[in-house]
Amino acid sequence: MPLLAIETTCDETAAAVIDRARRVLSSVVASQEALHAAWRGVVPELAARAHVERIVPVIDEAVSRAGVSRGAIEAVAVAVRPGLVGSLLVGVAAAKGVAAALGCPLVGYDHVAAHLYACRIAHGDRAVWPAVGLVASGGHTSLFHVRSPLDLERLGGTIDDAAGEAFDKAAALLGLGYPGGPAVERAATGGDPRAHRFPRPLAGDRDRLDMSFSGLKTALRYRIRPPGAPEDRPPPEGRARADLAASFQQAVVDTILAKVGLALERTGCRVLMVGGGVAANTLLREALEDLGRRRRVAVLVPPRELCTDNAAMGAIAWERLERGENDGLELDITPGTDRRRADAPPPGGKRP
Ligand code: KG4
Ligand code: ZN
Repeated sequence: MPLLAIETTCDETAAAVIDRARRVLSSVVASQEALHAAWRGVVPELAARAHVERIVPVIDEAVSRAGVSRGAIEAVAVAVRPGLVGSLLVGVAAAKGVAAALGCPLVGYDHVAAHLYACRIAHGDRAVWPAVGLVASGGHTSLFHVRSPLDLERLGGTIDDAAGEAFDKAAALLGLGYPGGPAVERAATGGDPRAHRFPRPLAGDRDRLDMSFSGLKTALRYRIRPPGAPEDRPPPEGRARADLAASFQQAVVDTILAKVGLALERTGCRVLMVGGGVAANTLLREALEDLGRRRRVAVLVPPRELCTDNAAMGAIAWERLERGENDGLELDITPGTDRRRADAPPPGGKRP
């Protein structure tokens, strides 16, 4: 009997049906990209309202595409952290409604741990723990020692902007659309990644697993519009833009790669699991796979649709169900990112 997973942490309204063997029977994602494009970033209030409009049709579609009856659903899973408060609340309220109506267990899960669990769905038995986990998305860029799917220790990560956020800001500076990652990647095609030497702060510091991307964004800004240049100067186009985009993308990838290598050395893990929207980036995927070949480490990167936000990765809830765990209808959200153990029960009662 399958599990229904619901995901509304940020700006994608998603639902999926996954069976106990971790087979994805359906996965529906309603993107809000068009809604937030004018602001070149996610507007939390708009995101929450859009989730309210979409959540019921998205759940209905996931159940119908899975070809199962509602009564066949064994449990309902929902991402409860981290994310935007209003967005998380819509998903949790919907999940409670469905669980109460069907009289089945309700299980909360951690969105970041779920991004890494996408490797289990995509790669089956090749996904073995312990592993180093890299989650690079719009909200997170972190390295973990993943002892088991639910036991993550954060080793380091960005101390300022997330990698995806840096891509989004770079896209805005280059006059490209939102979301920025795919737009910068496209613009970089044919560009020279060595045309501009952008900073890679902390990348050479072998004592820390931290990364920083905000200086890189500032460097790009000054390269496009040097101090004193008119604010209304239009962004570069053609070859100049391609060189800037390629050099920026290379700097992000180099920074991430340096710390992934260090994390593998420190932990001695032979498996690297990768997740999050930035893992859809071809240059990063290829660089990680190359690193894996050189170091004889198994690099697991899910297909692109399992890297960006989706509910199929909510299959991680099976790990809790199989331990006999579930949350009652008092399940609550924990928007912050400071929780290290993905299986820690969310605090009941008060909302932060
Ligand atoms: O995981 P995700 O869908 O949502 C969050 O949990 O944040 O990640 C979205 C982020 C955005 O910042 C987007 O620009 C970035 O992932 N992204 C990419 C690519 N596709 C999405 N960044 C670089 N290259 C891409 N191809
Ligand atoms: Zn995400």
